[in-house]
Amino acid sequence: MAKLNENYLKLPGSYLFSEIARRVNEFKSQHPNVDMIRLGIGDVTRPLAPAVVEAMKNAVDEMGKPESFRGYGPEQGYDFLIERIIANDYRPRGIELGKDEVFVSDGAKSDTANFQEIFGLDNVMAVTDPVYPVYVDSNVMAGRTGMYDTEKGQYGKIVYLPCTEENGMKPALPTTPVDMIYLCFPNNPTGMTLTKEELRLWVDYARENNAIILFDSAYEAFIREEEVPRSIYEVEGARQVAVEFRSFSKTAGFTGTRCAYTVVPKDVLVYDSQGQGHSLNKLWLRRQTTKFNGVSYPVQAAAAAVYSEEGKKQIRATIDYYMENARIIREGLKEAGFKVFGGVNAPYIWMKTPHNMGSWEFFDKLMAEAHVVGTPGAGFGANGEGYFRLTAFGTRENTEKAIERIKTRMK
Ligand code: MLT
Repeated sequence: MAKLNENYLKLPGSYLFSEIARRVNEFKSQHPNVDMIRLGIGDVTRPLAPAVVEAMKNAVDEMGKPESFRGYGPEQGYDFLIERIIANDYRPRGIELGKDEVFVSDGAKSDTANFQEIFGLDNVMAVTDPVYPVYVDSNVMAGRTGMYDTEKGQYGKIVYLPCTEENGMKPALPTTPVDMIYLCFPNNPTGMTLTKEELRLWVDYARENNAIILFDSAYEAFIREEEVPRSIYEVEGARQVAVEFRSFSKTAGFTGTRCAYTVVPKDVLVYDSQGQGHSLNKLWLRRQTTKFNGVSYPVQAAAAAVYSEEGKKQIRATIDYYMENARIIREGLKEAGFKVFGGVNAPYIWMKTPHNMGSWEFFDKLMAEAHVVGTPGAGFGANGEGYFRLTAFGTRENTEKAIERIKTRMK
């Protein structure tokens, strides 16, 4: 008899964005003529940059010729891409990385979900609340979280770090010991950031407690304010305790193309039951070489073009476009009387629902009355209840239309 990994039974019915899609499809089937505007899942709408498309086409042509065909690539990624990542994303900010400290992959979602495999099941993990659900659900599947308390909307063994209006959406250090800490800044879903000094508190905590920070910086390209740190490695000592996840999905429109990378410095150690330290970098390499065969050559060539002079210009224009959407949403919602957070250094706007309405109730009302889809805050954790997320990744036309509809129909 095939036996189940019963940890899967601890998961709520469906993944957040699948549940949203289900509700939207159901509504659409009953109201087929409705012009629905989707500002729910953070999926991009601008096409790939011309420099990226050209690089991908050239790479595909190379694959079709015997003299330039390539089979399996290096599992960690091609040097031509890794060198550009280091030279553009890190060196200008005073961060030196070895080529073997960068691992190219098919997405930050899969990397953040897979990375926990390296850690023992007795580690205590901490997440902000609200949080990107992948960190939690992947640990549930592994069996690290205990049971789900439906009353609280939380798992018994996870340490939740509330991000609330009272603390300015900035998590406080845990008051009980934790071993694995997931941080995402600029934050999904709140769109808020930490200063370098605030980030330093986390690095110091991790150093003092031999904890590891899993730092998701998938949205760093949207940072507008110069003083906001773009990488955790801008903080002294982070090389010893932090892994950083980055993605081309939002930065360069790769949600359907798939390319990302994870930085695992060689200095980060993880400890066995005898207290002996082991290199996390070596273990992640071992994991990836076993379970992953790398990102396709045309996609890596396309990602490398993100760093060409033309590519950089084109990508900056796209990011500016989305950040103008963010401004339109933020200011439009404020004018309509809503309380809003984020959207300044991130493509997400986090709003308080009106009249203390539940997040899912607001979701249904917004869909039914304004024909706008967003993401209910409760889907990101108990502290997300009473909040709602809109993304700036829509088209300009839809973004303006959505705000107009919210202003006129959601009083
Ligand atoms: C989101 O909407 O939170 C993101 O699109 C999810 C993701 O990047 O996987």
